[in-house]
Amino acid sequence: MQAEQNWLPRCDPLSLYSRIVGTGGYLPENIVTNSDLEKTVNTSDTWIRERTGIEQRHIAADGENTVDLAENAARKAMQAAGVLAADIDLIIVATTTADQVFPSTACLLQSRLDIHGCPAFDVQAVCTGFVYALAVADKFIKTDTSKCALVIGAETFSRIIDWSDRNTCVLFGDGAGAVVVKADSSPGILSTHLHADGDYANLLHVPSGVSSNYAAVQQGRAFVEMSGSDVFKMAVKTLGRIVDETLQANGLEYSDIDWLVPHQANTRILAATAKKLKMPMSKVINTVAKHGNTSAASIPLALDLAIRSNQIKAGDTLLLEGFGGGFTWGSALVNY
Ligand code: UT7
Repeated sequence: MQAEQNWLPRCDPLSLYSRIVGTGGYLPENIVTNSDLEKTVNTSDTWIRERTGIEQRHIAADGENTVDLAENAARKAMQAAGVLAADIDLIIVATTTADQVFPSTACLLQSRLDIHGCPAFDVQAVCTGFVYALAVADKFIKTDTSKCALVIGAETFSRIIDWSDRNTCVLFGDGAGAVVVKADSSPGILSTHLHADGDYANLLHVPSGVSSNYAAVQQGRAFVEMSGSDVFKMAVKTLGRIVDETLQANGLEYSDIDWLVPHQANTRILAATAKKLKMPMSKVINTVAKHGNTSAASIPLALDLAIRSNQIKAGDTLLLEGFGGGFTWGSALVNY
């Protein structure tokens, strides 16, 4: 009998679920408005508002890097969760704009937070990065590999933007959002769903990197290129599909969702997804106007804002969903 028990996986049946127990967000001080951009590129405040919903974006100062934004957000999330550095046993940073080729931003952050020894790594899935990172943390916790994870989406996307290209420069901003995810005896993260299709790489990409055209990186010419309307159409279609996939997996109806917490690329994309869910826009967390598209940071920033403003309350059912370069897309259904 004793020998048989030794073959069972090491797990605590009381804590096989993961739960978000604290959130934090950080936006750089410097704000760039649409009117500011009117002075530098051939655009207008009216065009940007009507086509995207964006009014302003936060841009990191010179010398302010992704790890700085991540640290600020992480400290707030840890404070909200009431956890100390010694409690954290996993760090995952979702970012497209790592400070260095290596070490990972997660390792840089780990040192900043005076955390030692636990696994720390970056996840790269562009705008879906936070959902990917959350899914990984959820699996670590559900397999009893981790008890208390710090999951962050942090970007200095402004560094990979060509500020003379009106097709892209009006869309993006910088920021970081963080959550603390802990093992719990009742379900918090109900399910996660991740997808990718690399055949669409060329529609939204930075076509240079370390092993390919590194000269462009060295010369500061490695910029985002996007076929906006193609990405828009795919985003609307794909996000609609993942809503259905997520609800079906949990045996739920559209009406069971209290809040949609989507990636914040464009208010028109948010509205299309809300329409699909038969959900009023008042139930969609929308930070597009004030943040712009902060890539991997956008979902945790929106989540943090909605929790701190008492929109999202304990017990609410949240649908987090993202779509981005790769293409990558994914969702997380969360009981908060
Ligand atoms: O985060 C990852 C996922 N990313 C997204 O989901 C972004 C998805 N795409 C979009 O949000 C939209 O496609 C954009 C906001 C990027 C563009 O909106 P659109 O309604 O799809 O416009 P468009 O690309 O079809 O361009 C319409 C016109 C073009 O002019 P012509 O060719 O019709 O004369 C563009 O050159 O708007 C022009 N345009 C601009 N005009 C003023 C493009 N950018 C600007 C601009 N200011 N900033």
